[in-house]
Amino acid sequence: PPSHKKSRPRPSELCKGCREVIEKVQKRYSQPWKKQEDNYQKFRSLLSSKCHGFDKAIITQTNTPVGSKLVYDGEKKRTLQVTPEIFSTFAKEHPFPNKTWDTCAVVGNGGILTDSGCGKMIDSAQFVIRCNLPPLGKSYEKHVGIKTDLVTANPSIFIDKYGALMGRRRQFVESLRSYGNSLLLLPAFSYGFNTPVCLRAVYSIEDFESPTRPIFFNPEYLQSLALFWRSQGLRAVRLSTGIIMTSLVLEHCANVHLYGFWPFNNHPDGLYALTNHYYDDRQTKTKFHAMPAEFDLLLRLHSQGVLRLHLGDC
Ligand code: CDP
Repeated sequence: PPSHKKSRPRPSELCKGCREVIEKVQKRYSQPWKKQEDNYQKFRSLLSSKCHGFDKAIITQTNTPVGSKLVYDGEKKRTLQVTPEIFSTFAKEHPFPNKTWDTCAVVGNGGILTDSGCGKMIDSAQFVIRCNLPPLGKSYEKHVGIKTDLVTANPSIFIDKYGALMGRRRQFVESLRSYGNSLLLLPAFSYGFNTPVCLRAVYSIEDFESPTRPIFFNPEYLQSLALFWRSQGLRAVRLSTGIIMTSLVLEHCANVHLYGFWPFNNHPDGLYALTNHYYDDRQTKTKFHAMPAEFDLLLRLHSQGVLRLHLGDC
C-alpha cells in the first residue's frame, strides 16, 4: 500500500477542528461531478471582462513598448519605465498563440499528491502548469507526472537555492533541464527586489543557451486579479501561485483540472498525516496567503462544474 496509507493517525494527532473542516469538504466534494457549460462560460466571461488575461497576463513587446510605465503590484508606489534593455527581455509575441486549449492541468504542490498515482492523468492534459520549480523525476513521476508546458518561479527560490544568482549560475540552469523547453513565468515586477534577480535568471538562461523560455507576469494583470478575487470574498495579502495560474487557464482552457490543491495537514480519505508539499514539509506563509479560503472558492467552482478538483487517488 502507498506509504501515506500505512500511518492512520490517532485522533489526538489531528488539529483542533480539522476533522470537522475536512468532513465538510468531503461532503461537498463527494457529489458526482459534471461540467456545467453555462456556469463555466459565465465565470470565464466575468474573469475576462475584469482581468483581460487573454492579452494582458503576460508582458510582450506588443503590449508593453519602450517607455511604458509598469506599476508594481506588490508595492503600489513603485514604478518602472521600460528601457530598451528591459524591453529586449520581453517575449516578442504572445507565448500562448491566440487559441484555447482543450484540457489543462494545474499542478499545485500539496502533499496530497504523494502516492496519488495521478502522474499519467496529469500528463494526459494538453497543457500542464506547475508551480515554483517543483522537483520532478523518476521518484515522483508516477504521482505528479513529468510533462511541463509552463512552470512558475518565485524569486525566493533563486535567493535561497542559488545564492540570488550572484555567483556561478550553471547549477541553476541545469536544474531547469527537468522542465524541457517549457515557459518559465516570473513575477519580475511584483516587488522591487524581484526585478534584478529575475533579469539575472533570464540572462543566465540566454547565456547558457537553455531551451527554457522565460516570460514575465504583467503586474497590471496580477493587480486586477487580486481585485477580482477580493470581490469574490477573498481576503488575503497575496494570492497564491496556484489560484493565479488557475485563473489564467480558466480564460484559455475548456477543461481545467486541478491537482495538488489541499492546504490541510491530513488526507481527506482516512485523515492520514500529510506533508505540506509532495517533496518537503516547508510550511506556507500564512501571513501572506489564505490558502484554506482560496480552497473554499475553488471548491465552489468545482461544485458549480466550472473546473474539476482532484482529491484522493487517481
Ligand atoms: O509559493 P506558494 O506558497 O504560493 O506555493 P507552493 O507552496 O509552492 O505551492 C504551489 C501552489 O499549490 C500554492 O500556491 C497553492 O495554490 C497549492 N497548494 C495547496 O493547495 N496545498 C498545499 N498543501 C500546498 C500548495
